[in-house]
Amino acid sequence: MVTLSDALDAEVARFPTKRLADSAQALIHRYRTGVDPATLVLDAEVTAAAYAAYRMPATHAAVTAALTEVAARAPDFAPTTHVDIGGGTGAAVWAARGVWPSLADITVLDQSTQAMDLGRRLADRADDPAIRRVRWQRTALGATRLPPADVATLSYVLSELTDAARADTVRAMTSATLAVVVEPGTPAGYERIMAARDELTAAGMHIVAPCPHSTTCPIPRGQDWCHFAARLGRSPLHQRLKTAVLNFEDEKFSYVAACREPWPAAPARIVRHPLKRKGMVSLRLCGPDGLADTIVSKRDPAAYRAARDTDWGDPWP
Ligand SMILES: C[S@@+](CC[C@H](N)C(=O)[O-])C[C@H]1O[C@@H](n2cnc3c(N)ncnc32)[C@H](O)[C@@H]1O
Repeated sequence: MVTLSDALDAEVARFPTKRLADSAQALIHRYRTGVDPATLVLDAEVTAAAYAAYRMPATHAAVTAALTEVAARAPDFAPTTHVDIGGGTGAAVWAARGVWPSLADITVLDQSTQAMDLGRRLADRADDPAIRRVRWQRTALGATRLPPADVATLSYVLSELTDAARADTVRAMTSATLAVVVEPGTPAGYERIMAARDELTAAGMHIVAPCPHSTTCPIPRGQDWCHFAARLGRSPLHQRLKTAVLNFEDEKFSYVAACREPWPAAPARIVRHPLKRKGMVSLRLCGPDGLADTIVSKRDPAAYRAARDTDWGDPWP
């Protein structure tokens, strides 16, 4: 099976590593200093390639992790149509197909032809026919009408939009059965997720994940932020571009998923690394009644065994 990592290695190999690394550094600088919504970031072939080589494995891992949690809430959900908004080089397409093999009709909307050209070339290398068939449509986001879709994704895009375009884009996603927004797991990314969550619930959608409820987020604003981590392996190219020693990294992300009809919610979600000590596990949980710390001890052997196997981001129990 051709993985995204295989396709990336083959596709970006035509650029010298030094050129990719320089472009990646310039991109990081642009993202760190804030993107002007009036400009096109992925405006050249090499910039799109640098984005794909440097960031796409991580955005793919984050979206996969978010969608996996969402899919676990409704194992019978078998979507066939997907629109990926601001999809760029197609990370969320590969992620969604990995989670829902039923997806057959997929559209990517983006303003960057350079990003979508690379996305199409990566997709051409997939042995998955649904990925090879993706429609890539040049679109400027804002008051955009989306094609009818069972799943709409918007990953790592909001910070590049004006406030008005953010609200309009998220509102447009409420036409989908399931809308999923993913952002970097930073305080600013979490704030954008909270604003998107408000738009989705105001339009009558129900939160599927990560929150086990659709009421107000209990996390004290300005003091903490809800985020999770997805571990991904680094390919040798990824490692070289990052001048990294470790062959893996943890991508921190925040997300919200909402659907038109209520799905069974998780009873609670683990919102910190579980603390596993001898004979006990401490869990920080977000539940319908707010945040709570709970200790699961060996005195309840079944719960203790389950708690030992938990991870940050998992539902509990
Ligand atoms: C950081 S990239 C994320 C790409 C992809 N969603 C991912 O998760 O890897 C942001 C994408 O949003 C697109 N974008 C930003 N502003 C846009 C706008 N106003 N209209 C359409 N696309 C836009 C960019 O071209 C770029 O492909």
